[in-house]
Amino acid sequence: MPLVAGKDLLTQADAEGYAVGAFNAINMETAQSIIQAAEEENSPVIIQVTQTTLAYTEPEELAALIRALIEKAKVPVAMHLDHGRTFEIVVKFLRLGFTSVMIDGSLQADGKTPRTYQENVEVTKLAARAAHAVGVTVEAELGRLGQIGTEIPESDAENALTDPDMAARFVEETGVDSLAVAIGTTHGLFKGSPTIVHDRLRKIDEKVSVPLVMHGGTGVPDDAVRKAIDFGIRKVNIDTQIRVAFYETMAGLIDQAQKEHAEADTAGQVRKYDIRKLLKPARDAMREAVKGRIRVFGSSGKASAFTGV
Ligand code: 13P
Repeated sequence: MPLVAGKDLLTQADAEGYAVGAFNAINMETAQSIIQAAEEENSPVIIQVTQTTLAYTEPEELAALIRALIEKAKVPVAMHLDHGRTFEIVVKFLRLGFTSVMIDGSLQADGKTPRTYQENVEVTKLAARAAHAVGVTVEAELGRLGQIGTEIPESDAENALTDPDMAARFVEETGVDSLAVAIGTTHGLFKGSPTIVHDRLRKIDEKVSVPLVMHGGTGVPDDAVRKAIDFGIRKVNIDTQIRVAFYETMAGLIDQAQKEHAEADTAGQVRKYDIRKLLKPARDAMREAVKGRIRVFGSSGKASAFTGV
């Protein structure tokens, strides 16, 4: 089915009380694994690309590839820019045909230094105006999430959480369609288990009219995710879990291939190299990881509202 607007997916999720999984793709195998998983679960899904992926691949090529896969998908899929840090990046992704963009005004363009509330409002408003002019959905962020290597110190953890009143004002001032909130999650793997501050989330949900987004979904226990969905989370971002599935599978296969090569050397045979034998199981492992999360998000079977199937 054709590419859908991010807003259509979130509106339907809100009406039915589930969350849409937003999974990061960097190449054909990651994008295929996400779409295959969504098809097997008959679930809507979001494929997202971060701005840092531009250092790995040409955005035009990646966007064209993802769009081609989406066009033959049997479920509704939206294409989303994850963590656009500047107005210019947002415009670039609008031109690439993404149907949803995130302007992350919580941090400056370096991705580390916090922006002030007012700076966040200004950059978000500008990006929202541009995106809305071409019918594209806008996600913003208020509060501070931890990053790998830049964890928020314990003493500052409370301050980093999204403030409910400020969030309501922010959404009103900027006109965004959804809001990513800081409620205790961290991007990447956690040391130990994360503590999701559900009470804070509930208060934000009471004050904020738009759907809420959980970043840093990897490692958040299933029950904590389900409870967050009860309190208004309608999109959950997953990246690291896909990478882990890829790495772990690949590591085992390369280990095995090296043993086979050593045996071939001993037997005086020629070594075999077939990278499809590495990539296919890695893609299958990523697909299974995505399917598992889709089930927790409660979106299995929910593609029917869009396709009638
Ligand atoms: P994880 O890498 O923790 O899954 O977080 C992904 C994310 O929030 C992308 O924006």
